[in-house]
Amino acid sequence: MFSFAPTPGQSTADLYADLVESARALTDGEPDGVANMANVAALIWQFLPDLNWAGFYRMVGDGLVLGPFVGKPACIRIALGQGVCGTAAATGQTQLVPDVHAFPGHIACDAQSRSELVVPVLRDGQVIAVIDLDSPSPARFTPDDARGIEALAAALVTCI
Ligand code: SME
Repeated sequence: MFSFAPTPGQSTADLYADLVESARALTDGEPDGVANMANVAALIWQFLPDLNWAGFYRMVGDGLVLGPFVGKPACIRIALGQGVCGTAAATGQTQLVPDVHAFPGHIACDAQSRSELVVPVLRDGQVIAVIDLDSPSPARFTPDDARGIEALAAALVTCI
């Protein structure tokens, strides 16, 4: 049994440090990327409050394909440049979106989503996946969340 959990009252920096350490521990020595993404999606869900979707899209060929996640069923394929995920994949840049309704082309997989954070996972300068977090609260994600998920993405480069 695994028992990874956040510590009540800890700072955002400490929360993400614990999340990244837990992800490293869970994926250590396991070469299967699907298993690792599934466990990390579950970890994100356990560590971060106020989410309605957390998971991965993978670069397959010239577009994104749905990967392991927690939340409602989501759109399966996203073209590069399309929506928040496709923008993150096309630019290689984190997308911090306080109001999804104000993001041109946002893809509404869950009508509850109000804000979103998408972080690319880069290997040798190439986007291999994105980590996508959705929240039902407007402006749920801060630059600290972006930095934390970027640290998580960096920790996953060799195991997904
Ligand atoms: N909202 C995303 C699509 C994926 S779902 O949020 C799970 C987007 O605009 O790319």
